[in-house]
Amino acid sequence: MQDSFGRNIEYLRVSITDRCNLRCVYCMPEEGIKKLDREKILSFEEIIKIVKACASLGIRKIRYTGGEPLIIKGIENLIHETSIIPGIEDIAITTNGILLYDMAQDLKKAGLKRVNISLDTLNEDKYRKITRGGDLRKVLMAIEKCIEIGMTPVKLNVVLIRGLNDDEVIDLMNLTMNMPVEVRFIELMPIGEGVKYYDKGEMSTEEIINSYPSLIPVENNLHSTANLYKLKNAKGNIGFITPLSCKFCDNCNRIRLTSTGTIKPCLHSREELDIRRYVENEAMLIEVLKTAISSKPKEHYLNSESISRSEKDMYQIGG
Ligand code: 5AD
Ligand code: SF4
Repeated sequence: MQDSFGRNIEYLRVSITDRCNLRCVYCMPEEGIKKLDREKILSFEEIIKIVKACASLGIRKIRYTGGEPLIIKGIENLIHETSIIPGIEDIAITTNGILLYDMAQDLKKAGLKRVNISLDTLNEDKYRKITRGGDLRKVLMAIEKCIEIGMTPVKLNVVLIRGLNDDEVIDLMNLTMNMPVEVRFIELMPIGEGVKYYDKGEMSTEEIINSYPSLIPVENNLHSTANLYKLKNAKGNIGFITPLSCKFCDNCNRIRLTSTGTIKPCLHSREELDIRRYVENEAMLIEVLKTAISSKPKEHYLNSESISRSEKDMYQIGG
């Protein structure tokens, strides 16, 4: 379905939990996170009903995120149920990769097509610091596993922060030489805990692109949020995601479903529509979804206020 600015909305991102098994410094506070009660969180049955209604309106692609989606028991069942919904062509997840090595094969069998894995550093000590306790080796094993079983290209999300991991840009880029991975550098967003790092740590992707003349531009599809490049003779691409300095709102094709059952037409807007209450009434559900899609704003205003207007943090929205 088209929104009021003629954008074809065909991509739904679903946050299935606000919980995470890591505590990345720019995403979650170390302690004091108020856990949502279980009954506040959508059940798989409810998610499937909402996805079905979305599919009837033209949604083709689903991404499950969190928090960390793989901590939810039975996620392979959710993926399988999603994969048999008529109209759904593509199912992906965004994960920190910690639990992925053991689960990858079953997830693929259930219908998962692709994974985006967060990987901010290649240094084990630094990884432990950034994630407050994570084991980098598990993530690297998971990446290899996904490549081995053919879930390619595996996309690796790097949030660049000056003074934290900007010394590893070239090492991270070099991963693409021998592996079919897309390494994507994401600008830090001044949202939630990210605000604390923003003043000193903000880096524009333009600065990096300009520093590496060996990057060769690559065509990408219109709706992708990444500008693509590659190194000569590399197996994979390098992407730059610039949510702030270069808005991708014009080609935005997505809406978001939060774990508590609200639709967010735009990541950075305060606006949320409660759709959980209509979940048992398909006709109403479709009507409310239509309203949500038509109310998608033209663009976000992160720059003008230099802070997101969303009342939720990244771990509650799912990136
Ligand atoms: N800015 C940019 N990206 C962020 N993420 C979490 N917090 C922020 C932020 N403030 C990223 C994670 C992960 C994805 C889900 O969102 O690193 O890759
Ligand atoms: Fe968890 Fe991802 Fe946030 Fe890190 S960035 S704390 S892995 S949700």
